Amino acid sequence: MRNFGLACLPLAFVSFVYAQDIPDGPGKDTVEKICTACHDLGAITSMNGGADIWQSVADDMKSRGADGTDDDFKVIVAYLAKYYGPAVHINTDTAASLQSSLGLTADEASAIVKYRTDKGNFATWDDVMKVPGVDTSKLKGLQGRIKFT
Ligand code: HEC
Repeated sequence: MRNFGLACLPLAFVSFVYAQDIPDGPGKDTVEKICTACHDLGAITSMNGGADIWQSVADDMKSRGADGTDDDFKVIVAYLAKYYGPAVHINTDTAASLQSSLGLTADEASAIVKYRTDKGNFATWDDVMKVPGVDTSKLKGLQGRIKFT
């Protein structure tokens, strides 16, 4: 018994470390409720795509037995297309592209490009949050879309 208890400890620790926390936003609860029945959220958080891609994933999961109403699936697709939408290459995308993909003003997008030109490539999300002149509340929860390479 004692050995069994000890053997369980590392496992509990591992599952704690890998517990996925997805951004707050409309639909988070629905995703957590419906999309964790068969696998953890790692399948989702390692993926990026537009609404069309997430719609086909949702249809696929429904056909595999994911259980929700049509409204639940609409909310899920909208959530995923926002927070796990198309990848944004923060070190290489043009200002125009950053502006439209992240919903920034032209000045904010230019500030990001200027910052990486002056200081070198962004390495972390925290670096992105430091760019002066950007209303970072617009970027809240969008970490899952930002790629540094
Ligand atoms: C009834 C069980 C079940 C539920 C509920 C479920 N999935 Fe899945 N999901 C699977 C299976 C099985 C796989 C592995 C598919 C494979 O390997 O081909 C998978 C794989 C995935 C993948 C990996 C890429 C892929 O398409 O294979 C993503 C992304 C995904 N699921 C998203 C979701 C989302 C979003 C939800 C909530 C709407 C969800 N899943 C709910 C069974 C489920």
